[in-house]
Amino acid sequence: MGTTILETTVNTLPAMVIAIDGPAGAGKSTVARAVAGEIGFTYLDSGAMYRCVALAALERGQSLADGDGLGVLAEGLEIGFDGPRVLLGERDVSREIRSPAVTAAASRVSVHPRVRAAMVGRQQHLIGTGSYVAEGRDIGTVVSPDSPLKVFLTASDEERARRRAAETGEAVEAVLEAQRSRDASDTEREHGALRSAADAVELDTSSLSLEEVVAWIVNLARQRGLV
Ligand code: DC
Repeated sequence: MGTTILETTVNTLPAMVIAIDGPAGAGKSTVARAVAGEIGFTYLDSGAMYRCVALAALERGQSLADGDGLGVLAEGLEIGFDGPRVLLGERDVSREIRSPAVTAAASRVSVHPRVRAAMVGRQQHLIGTGSYVAEGRDIGTVVSPDSPLKVFLTASDEERARRRAAETGEAVEAVLEAQRSRDASDTEREHGALRSAADAVELDTSSLSLEEVVAWIVNLARQRGLV
């Protein structure tokens, strides 16, 4: 089965990646999207791709522990982006992939090396086609280790849970609980574990506004002559 990735933005600049990694709820998606908009790069949400694998696995009733089976599934899926929309084949799954069930399953499917290899390959193909602000867990360490600007965003556990709860409408306590197990899975897995690249700049966003974080990253990009 082929892979179809839809391109939505054409950049005239040489291909370049600003990598934004960090734990769930640190503000990566909102920040990365806003930075991309401000400097005219394309935004890549790598987590959405793992979420698509998780959704497809749940719908097919596949075991979340079967790494090879999930790898085959991941290799065959057509995952695409059309602006803010996430597509699985021709289906718009933007909302479904944000459900708590898919969120929990995404954390489990993303531990499997074959799933990661399939997603990393697609992400590398995609970012080779233009200038991207790519966010995830392993962009600066695995997907784009040569990135000229790597940012590692963090925030306190409580603040991250508060932000996620505000997004999904769940109770903060429930989010905090689920977040702890996802954090453990993200940081302890053998492949593509969440960690800051040695040359990443770290920023704790707990007490910063979105505008402050975005301005800080855009300034860094300017200082480094990237935009
Ligand atoms: O960023 P997110 O919450 O949408 O990510 C969903 C899951 O995918 C999360 O459990 C971690 C995983 N993930 C990953 O392993 N590597 C990435 N580059 C992005 C996300």
